Amino acid sequence: MKKIQKLLVIAMTLLLVFSLAACGGSKDSNTSAKADSKKSGDGIQEMTIKISHVVAENTPKHQGALAMKKYIEKESGGKIKVQVYPNSQLFGDPDEYQNLVANNVQFIIPDMSKLVGNDPGFNIPAMPFLFKDDAAATAFWDGEKGQEIFKRLEKDGVLGLKMWPNGPKQMTNNKKPIKKPEDLKGLKIRTQGGQLLEAIYKKLDAGSVSIPFGELYTALQQGTVDGEENTYSNIESKKFDEVQKYTTVMGHTRVDYALLTNTKFWNGLNDKTKEIVQKGVDEGTKVARDSAKQLNEDSLKKLKERGNTKINQLSDDQIAEFKKTLEPVYKEWSTKIGKDIIKDAESKNK
Ligand code: LMR
Repeated sequence: MKKIQKLLVIAMTLLLVFSLAACGGSKDSNTSAKADSKKSGDGIQEMTIKISHVVAENTPKHQGALAMKKYIEKESGGKIKVQVYPNSQLFGDPDEYQNLVANNVQFIIPDMSKLVGNDPGFNIPAMPFLFKDDAAATAFWDGEKGQEIFKRLEKDGVLGLKMWPNGPKQMTNNKKPIKKPEDLKGLKIRTQGGQLLEAIYKKLDAGSVSIPFGELYTALQQGTVDGEENTYSNIESKKFDEVQKYTTVMGHTRVDYALLTNTKFWNGLNDKTKEIVQKGVDEGTKVARDSAKQLNEDSLKKLKERGNTKINQLSDDQIAEFKKTLEPVYKEWSTKIGKDIIKDAESKNK
């Protein structure tokens, strides 16, 4: 009997020791779960990363952001959580950059036209008919001159990591088919912003105004503006065709994005964590770049099926007319952006 009692005491003592150890463990992980960014055992920092953007889900930007999330969460074993906010849910055009600087968000992916106030180089996607396709635009931004322009954001504590293309912009409006430059006379067009886009519409005798993307559908619906320019995937995913009777296939300017982070966040990552996040960026870049053209083609098909907007493809001669009209604007802005930079950009078409 005494032997049984002794065994029972040993068993109880062991149980007590194990439960105390387990409690200690769970107390530690509770503490680290609460922390915004804390080192865990294998060197990966526990944290939540926010990615914010202004467009819909069925777009290259969102698909790229989701690929980043998937990679980073998987490779960090769930230690890093990535929250993706589309449709200006977290921040819109007017406030996303300052919130990136303040590290309230760790990645944003603005259309470069929204960055022209930071540096004139970001007007490049708005240079009329400059790049022949996504590949040429991508090659420029991956190259020396493109990287130089990205570097200029470092003064704000912002790092330009990669360019993500969306594609050529087409012109939509609710007044009339656009076939020649004179057709734009008197129309009021919404732009993404910047003096170059403004100069283009001035040259075409049209008015222009910059409106945040999140407010664009309503502005078109209420007639605040007659038209806008965008990629098929943006037009279709945001249903602009419901309020725009005419689409002119022109490809005169482009939507290209800059994937941006801030130095406060980036420099706070240890090597192990940075490697995972960097590879997530590469993965997202691959998906965004690979999906842009196809998503635009799919959207064009959907727009045709829906039949709300009359799609008018300009002939080569008609496009040449627009090119000729906009040539002085191109020349003036080559000087403003830098002739060496534009020469380098043009060379990517070969
Ligand atoms: C727009 O404002 O029209 C676009 O730049 C939105 C986007 O991010 O693609």
